[in-house]
Amino acid sequence: MEPIAYVNGAFVPLSEAKVSILDRGFLFADGIYEVAAVLDGKLIDNASHLARLQRSVGEITLALPESLERIQEIQKELVKRNSVANGLVYLEVTRGADSGRDFVFPKNDVKPTLVMFTSEKDIVNAPSARTGISVITVPDIRWARRDIKSVALLAQVLAKQAAAEAKAGEAWMIEDGKVTEGGSSSCFILTQDDVIVTRQNGNEILPGCTRKAVVKLAEERQLRIEERAFSVEEALAAKEAFITSASLFVQAVVSIDGKKVGDGKPGLMTNRLREIYVDFARATAV
Ligand code: PDD
Repeated sequence: MEPIAYVNGAFVPLSEAKVSILDRGFLFADGIYEVAAVLDGKLIDNASHLARLQRSVGEITLALPESLERIQEIQKELVKRNSVANGLVYLEVTRGADSGRDFVFPKNDVKPTLVMFTSEKDIVNAPSARTGISVITVPDIRWARRDIKSVALLAQVLAKQAAAEAKAGEAWMIEDGKVTEGGSSSCFILTQDDVIVTRQNGNEILPGCTRKAVVKLAEERQLRIEERAFSVEEALAAKEAFITSASLFVQAVVSIDGKKVGDGKPGLMTNRLREIYVDFARATAV
């Protein structure tokens, strides 16, 4: 059966899910997105994703066309209609389609566009969860407001394509000698004296929902956490490295630019945090 998508109030077959070429998401990347995981048919950490959605749209002065409660209802309805057991729900809201291409915001009668679709992915049993992934480093060439989950992702497209061509699973972006974040993930290391280090939130990175949950879960277990920037050299000297995101949860990084991290295998702390996160995800799913 053909997958169902949501477009501005209607559930339609994916092949019929269309928006105008004048949509500002298409013309200007004038839009915000979110990706939430689905486990056993339920949404993972969705309150956190919806809170970030609200914040992101606020930062670009875009009003959501539906309430957060309604958006969650639509997400759930879409998961149900597509019988997604394990996967992702993508949602995007843009400043809508005006009558032409004008940089200035449209007048009030232009309704924002809201679209959603789902995909299947077995995040818990992904082979890379066992093996870990390799990463390459690239310069971070993005704009200065990376805390906004904007659909302007060209820098990440190029970074992740470079990673794919190098047979790596992710690109770590570097600015001023420090790792900002992955192309679509937050970065962590575990130092030789067992301190979990991840960059502090700010305009330089997206405040990852999975990052936030992992930091909280680690703190609750009295694990030592430092929120600060780290360099690739520090990551290569670390015991372990890992990344987090809604689409992979917690995943070990076993090499950076072809050099091993630790013994080149997923580490104990990474595996432990992954288990802790999956338990949290199942326990709080909606
Ligand atoms: N990306 N940093 C960036 C630049 C991201 O794009 C993402 C997520 C993250 C992790 O955030 P979270 O834990 O809330 O998923 C960090 C999504 C999954 C994507 O673009 O597909």
